[in-house]
Amino acid sequence: MQIHIITVIPELLESPLQHSIMKRAQDKGLLKVELHHLRKWAVNEYGQVDDYQFGGGAGMVMMPEPLSKAIEELSAHTKFNEIIYLTPDGDRLDQHIANKLSMKENLLMICGHYKGIDQRIRDKYITMEISIGDYVLSGGELAAAVLTDAIGRLIPGVLNDETSALFDSFQDNLLAPPVYTRPAEFQGMKVPDILLSGDPKKIDEWRHEQSLDRTREKRPDLLQEDGA
Ligand code: 6GU
Repeated sequence: MQIHIITVIPELLESPLQHSIMKRAQDKGLLKVELHHLRKWAVNEYGQVDDYQFGGGAGMVMMPEPLSKAIEELSAHTKFNEIIYLTPDGDRLDQHIANKLSMKENLLMICGHYKGIDQRIRDKYITMEISIGDYVLSGGELAAAVLTDAIGRLIPGVLNDETSALFDSFQDNLLAPPVYTRPAEFQGMKVPDILLSGDPKKIDEWRHEQSLDRTREKRPDLLQEDGA
């Protein structure tokens, strides 16, 4: 899978994608992330990519020309399955969306800044708009890093048995069960006996029950949704 990301601050994306599972996905050749600096397509020698908004009001808007040139140039090399704009007014990211996107070959993500991008770019090029939650970030970069991580770990072969996504929270609309490691007793608190029983069937049942209990308690809304 290739993920291309257009940004005015590539530095914000570098570190999150260079460690841990994202690093492994790229080292294994299963994921390629390419960062593109929007200033490369700036309208003048000052590297301008934003301008005042028509109608007045505080905050700059990202100009259409640089984005359009960037999208056209990258699209000439790569046929993108989706062109995704990261924006707080997009569809809220969830595991279902991440699963679907992990099956695509080529994605282009666009990180907005300031007041966002000119509406005409959204109308003409954008095929998906994604938000990572109901709060405002200073720009789309951290959201693009979150989305890339959520997708990248689902690409077949990226995770091994130890890190398998099958038992992650949300994968079946359930939260993950509690986990424990050594020591078996810590400050007077004991690991549940069943986990020490060596009986895999009982342990699976216990974990499933715990997942259900946790989900009922913390996120009953998940149980209303169908599995999708
Ligand atoms: Cl995708 N962008 C920005 N700027 N803020 C956000 C967001 C995205 N998702 C939640 N808040």
